[in-house]
Amino acid sequence: MGYYHEPVMLREVLNNLNLINGGLYADGTLGGGGHSEAILNMIGQTGQLYGIDRDKDAINAASKRLAKYSGFHPIWGNFHDVRNLLGGLPPLDGGLLDLGVSSFQLDSAARGFSYHESAPLDMRMDQLSGEMASEWLANAEEHEIANALYKYGDEKWAARIAKILIERRKQSPILNTSDLVSVVDAAIPKAVRRKDEGHPARRTFQAVRIVVNNEIEPLETTLNDWVKLLKSGGRLCVITFHSIEDRIVKFAFRKMQSPCICPPKAPICTCGLKPFAKVIAGGAIKPSNEEVQSNPRARSAKLRVIERL
Ligand SMILES: C[S@@+](CC[C@H](N)C(=O)[O-])C[C@H]1O[C@@H](n2cnc3c(N)ncnc32)[C@H](O)[C@@H]1O
Repeated sequence: MGYYHEPVMLREVLNNLNLINGGLYADGTLGGGGHSEAILNMIGQTGQLYGIDRDKDAINAASKRLAKYSGFHPIWGNFHDVRNLLGGLPPLDGGLLDLGVSSFQLDSAARGFSYHESAPLDMRMDQLSGEMASEWLANAEEHEIANALYKYGDEKWAARIAKILIERRKQSPILNTSDLVSVVDAAIPKAVRRKDEGHPARRTFQAVRIVVNNEIEPLETTLNDWVKLLKSGGRLCVITFHSIEDRIVKFAFRKMQSPCICPPKAPICTCGLKPFAKVIAGGAIKPSNEEVQSNPRARSAKLRVIERL
């Protein structure tokens, strides 16, 4: 299977980045390189784009696709380490984070993200480091699993799924995607399942993936790091697909715009925290109906934009 991923909200991202000819940009989630290619096409021959991904397959595929652009620089790494990865460069004109997993990752059965086919339960975006989902599920306590499913998957049946998982793993380890699907299947009564909620294991798989890849905890600090690497007037676009992520982005952006922590009635500011960015477009930008129709994976996408002062 070739690497593919339809870039989400491409037009909205390009419009909001205020791209300039010869500018310096960074894409923290290179994936299939769709957003990056469109940016490279708009910043001219002297423009530069650093594309980061923690997935070696994505780096290899995007490097091939974008080899014709002399201003493209792939980096295999974690966008949470952006200060180390890009800190040595001049301030950036713009950045993009298109969070989550790519269609390629989701649909490559062997990567273990999919509940449709049986494969080893891996789910790591970076296949060469960290704990696989099967390892986390083998060692986590019942309450840790239940909390994760509730918090990151919005799963009402979290406690029951965790309980059954612990019982099952005493008999045999949860090693494959089909083992996890069968735990969820046993935990959620058939009578309460709704067709419009999709596959019953969807929420569990999403939550486990978020834990395995530590997608949420470092996010607020990371957003600050990205914005501080921008030059004045430079913009960061962030696309989220999950309400928890979107809330973090929304509040992190608000804090950058209004960081003062003095009591509201204090006559003057004494905390010394000064705004260093301003939120663009107010609320979240959503994909058009046409886009959602042609690419259902865009349906939960939200784009937020911030500009460095
Ligand atoms: C939604 S896809 C991006 C798709 C891309 N915008 C395109 O047009 O093809 C997300 C990508 O970000 C990568 N990714 C997710 N979290 C990451 C992180 N913390 N550091 C680096 N890459 C990450 C994933 O491996 C995946 O390839």
